[in-house]
Parts: sequence; C-alpha cells; structure tokens
Amino acid sequence: MAAAAAAISLPHSLSPPFQATRRRPAPPACTHTERGVSFDPGSAFYRSDSAAGRDLAVLAATLHRRHGRLDPSAPFLCLDAMCGCGVRALRYLAQVGADFVWANDASEALRPVIVANLSRFERGSPPAEAGRRRWVVSHNDATRLLAERYLRREYFDVIDVDSFGGDAAYVRAALLALKIGGLLYLTSTDWRSARGYGSRSSLSSYGAYVRPMPYPNEVGLRMVIGGAAREAALLGFHITPVFSYFAYHGPIYRVMVKLCNGKDDGISNYGFICHCKSCGQSQTFGFDELGQISCGCTYRTDADSISVVGPLWTGPLHDASFLAEMLSLANEWGWAYTSENGVTLEKLLSTMIEESDPQLPPGYIRLDEISRRAKVNSPPLGTLINSLRKEGFSACRSHIGTNVIKTNCPIASCMDVAREIRNMR
Ligand SMILES: C[S@@+](CC[C@H](N)C(=O)[O-])C[C@H]1O[C@@H](n2cnc3c(N)ncnc32)[C@H](O)[C@@H]1O
Ligand SMILES: [Zn+2]
Repeated sequence: MAAAAAAISLPHSLSPPFQATRRRPAPPACTHTERGVSFDPGSAFYRSDSAAGRDLAVLAATLHRRHGRLDPSAPFLCLDAMCGCGVRALRYLAQVGADFVWANDASEALRPVIVANLSRFERGSPPAEAGRRRWVVSHNDATRLLAERYLRREYFDVIDVDSFGGDAAYVRAALLALKIGGLLYLTSTDWRSARGYGSRSSLSSYGAYVRPMPYPNEVGLRMVIGGAAREAALLGFHITPVFSYFAYHGPIYRVMVKLCNGKDDGISNYGFICHCKSCGQSQTFGFDELGQISCGCTYRTDADSISVVGPLWTGPLHDASFLAEMLSLANEWGWAYTSENGVTLEKLLSTMIEESDPQLPPGYIRLDEISRRAKVNSPPLGTLINSLRKEGFSACRSHIGTNVIKTNCPIASCMDVAREIRNMR
C-alpha cells in the first residue's frame, strides 16, 4: 500500500531503456517562456493557454514542499506522467525547487525535446546520495510507470497526469505511487461526459451517471473529484480537493487533490445532485435518501422534469486556506496581477476562495434564468450578491461562468430579491 515510505533512490534502479544518454544534448531553442522559464515545445502537444493551470500546480507544489509534508526533511519528488515537451517537469525543477523530477511521455519521439529542456539542470545533483539524479526521462504508458513505482515502493510528493480525454484508468496507480499527504493533479478534457452527452464513459471512467445540467462544467469538476474519492476509498484512503479549475479553452477540467490516510465516512461529500427544470431549484441527496429524490415544488415534477447526476463530489471544490496561501505566494512572486494568456491569478484565486464556502451547495444559477423566471431585467451581479448576503445567504461569483451566481438561497427567493432590486415588489 502507498505509505509514508522512506525516501526513494530512484535513478540507479532504472532499467537501461529509461536511462538518459550520457551525451549532453544541444541546448533548446527556447522559443517559449512561462513565468520566466524558457523552453522549446518542439513537436509536442503544448498549449500556452494552459499556463494558468501550470501556475496553479507550481504554487500548490511549492507550498506543499515548504510546509505540507509529513517528513519535511525527505527529498521532494515529483512525477510528470504525461509530460509532453516537459514544461511542467521543468517548472517543478526551476520554480518549485523539486529535488527530483521524473518526466514521462509515452511518445519516444519527444525524448530529444524533453531532455534538451531539462538539460538546463544537471542530471545528477549534489549533495544527494551517490547515484541520485535530479531528473529522469522515460517513455512508458502512464499506468504502467506508476504501477512500477508502487511495486518498487517509490512514492512521490506530487504526481501530475495531464491527460487527453477522460480516461481515468491511471488514477488508482497514481494514488498508489503517491506519498500519504501528497498531491495528485488530474486533468480531463472529456467535456461530453461532463456535460451529460457521454453517460456511459462517465460511468466507466468516474463511476458517475451524468446528464445535462444547467452547470455542466462544475458537474465535470465534481465528476473528476468524485472518481478520485472513490478510488482512494477503495484503497483505504480519502482525498480532499486542494483546488478545482475549469478552463474554457479545451475545455479542460483540472483538479488537485491531497491524499489523506484512512477512510473518512466516505459519503458525506459524495452523493447525488438533483435539478428540477420546472422550478429551477437544485438539491443534493445522500445515498440514504435515494428513494426520496424529488423536488417538492408545486410544479409538475415527473421523470422528465427532474435530472439526477451522480454519485459525485458534493463537498467544497477547494481548500480555502490553502488557496489563500497560494494567492499570497502569487503576490510574493509577482504573479498575481500579471495576466498571462488572459488569466489574472489574483482574480481567479479570489473567486475560488469565495467558492470554497462550505455553506454553498453544488451548482450555480444563471442570472438570465433568475430574470426570466422573475420577469425582470437582470440585476447587476454584484448588487444581487450583496443583497443576498444582506439577507443572510452565502453568495458569490463562480470562476466557471461569467453571469452566474453560487448561493444557498433558493431560486424562488433569488427571484424575489431580483424583483426588489428592480423595484418590482
Ligand atoms: C496534454 S499532452 C501533455 C502536455 C504537457 N503536460 C504540457 O503541460 O504541455 C498529453 C501527453 O500525454 C502523452 N500520452 C498520451 N497517452 C499516454 C499514456 N497512456 N501514457 C503516457 N503518456 C501518454 C501524449 O504523448 C502527450 O504528449
Ligand atoms: Zn421543482
């Protein structure tokens, strides 16, 4: 079982095909830069749009290295299981200060570009034990590589799996190769499953039956977290989300979770979300309430008017205090207000912090849905949020949608507040 195992001595145990060549590769052309780190994407799949997702990973991994670990004196080990050109591996070395990074990509053709990008760091680095290297490049199927690490009792502090699509087959192996307390960064680009157009694949990949919902991209994040929670429970662990990030380009669902020792109760944050098309209200239901799923509104609520998705993660999407530390680090490094590729970290992280309020139920309500149902023009979003807060409700923006509100206020009361703002009551 994955455990707070002793530090591993990875590189000298590598079989020959994975050993990096002794010849120093030509320096990379360095055609791209992310937060001051230069690299060459070569022919690898690389999107500059994803830089914010990499920024978030670097901030979280750095905080984890500084004070999140069970054994802070152990070498800090990262594994980038689908590394493309190696930009993440490079950033884990250059910005997080990882003692060792394993960069893997199934494609052998990418080896020259990955090795060239990482070569700005000496492969073997003092003062670690003899034989320890700073980085290794391999070309293996991610699940096989992760399973091998587990079998050799080589456990990592951060594992990053930046996959295409939504095949979550690697999640169990990744959890097994992670140190207890370690961070697992998951990606899904399977928007069909997230949005309810691929219920079979959401079921096989994440164990969740998903149908179209008014907040499909939040459901997508919850589907990915729920899948990881289920795998962790199966192994006798539990996970907590560090942050969840939806990005429209792609679209991409990214989730960083922390692996925690022991099972929790397993079901308080794992259940079903029900949405009533007739009245617009959403609710969550636990496993012990399965037979009671209905809306309770006065409208007609037959099978067609109720959508149920799950089981998936119904708890908070992020860890608010960890996000506050990430924001403070982004400020310290001068990253908070510099918008790279259109994403300003200060705005993104502040919104995520507000979204972490445990009073907030899953989902959000579109402003135009409130105004359509209330038969008034849409009130300004900020005004509506302030009014709901004055009434004692939790309310905030969502990082996922621009004109939407997350709130624990029932939609009928949101309509009343919207009418009041428009002086219609
Ligand atoms: C989304 S790209 C990675 C991009 C890179 N992480 C970045 O941030 O720029 C996914 C990569 O996974 C690799 N890949 C696909 N299936 C894989 C598998 N089963 N095991 C390992 N690598 C795989 C592909 O060759 C591709 O380079
Ligand atoms: Zn209803």
